[in-house]
Amino acid sequence: MSALQGQVAVVTGASRGIGRAVASALRGAGARVVRVARSLVTGGSGDFHDIRCDVTDSVAVEGAAARVLADHGVPHIVVSNAGAFVLKPLDVTTPDELDQQIAVNLRAPFHVARVFLPAMRDAGRGAFVTVGSVADHVVFPGNSAYAATKFGVRGLHETLVAEYRGSGVRLTLVSPGPTDTAVWDLVNPDAREGFIRRADMLRPEDVADAVLFVATRPAHVHVDWLRVNPRA
Ligand SMILES: NC(=O)c1ccc[n+]([C@@H]2O[C@H](COP(=O)([O-])OP(=O)(O)OC[C@H]3O[C@@H](n4cnc5c(N)ncnc54)[C@H](OP(=O)(O)O)[C@@H]3O)[C@@H](O)[C@H]2O)c1
Repeated sequence: MSALQGQVAVVTGASRGIGRAVASALRGAGARVVRVARSLVTGGSGDFHDIRCDVTDSVAVEGAAARVLADHGVPHIVVSNAGAFVLKPLDVTTPDELDQQIAVNLRAPFHVARVFLPAMRDAGRGAFVTVGSVADHVVFPGNSAYAATKFGVRGLHETLVAEYRGSGVRLTLVSPGPTDTAVWDLVNPDAREGFIRRADMLRPEDVADAVLFVATRPAHVHVDWLRVNPRA
């Protein structure tokens, strides 16, 4: 039998990149997977159930969660992955860009946690995975807005680990290093000194493997933090 047969998983930011790879990996292991993103069309799409949702909108997230609970029951796995990346020095980062980073990288994970974790606690089980970043614990000059949100989401995660201890819900922060997705298109790291080349980055499937590892641990095992990086 597949490891996640009979389980329901929700993945935010699953229309491309890491989230899409995570959704495929969980589906491949037998889970019923609900994908959430702004560019998806609500409904069934072959292997997946999709919900169009802007996760920065708390009301829309509540609506998406209500739909998941009504259609599929309390999820066994939630992967809070949706995010965005601004790489700019402080003096050229606008207040609007900071607000957008906070909205998608920090407020949205809070909304997603808020709508699913209490139901998972009531069910007495579940894996709640947040996708952080190497920038949630290592500082790099030139990405203060992104780092502030990712350090923040690590604080959220660590607090929720304490808050949900003993509940049966296991919370994990997966912190990937540079991963070759569309977020790097504008940065063009191959042409810039001091950046890892795209060919040497992690693949989205590497991060998906890490999430699958977490989601398939036996119920008595809690992986609270998993850092995954390209080989040095
Ligand atoms: N790539 C890296 O090097 C790297 C490294 C460390 C951590 N991460 C983290 O990994 C996560 C995924 O990044 P990625 O590289 O896969 O980026 P990506 O390819 O740009 O994918 C981002 C995903 O998030 C969704 N999303 C963005 N804003 C959203 C919103 N407001 N509401 C709903 N969905 C939204 C996008 O879908 P729609 O546009 O369809 O909404 C898309 O599916 C992020 O949290 C990122 O910080 C990435």
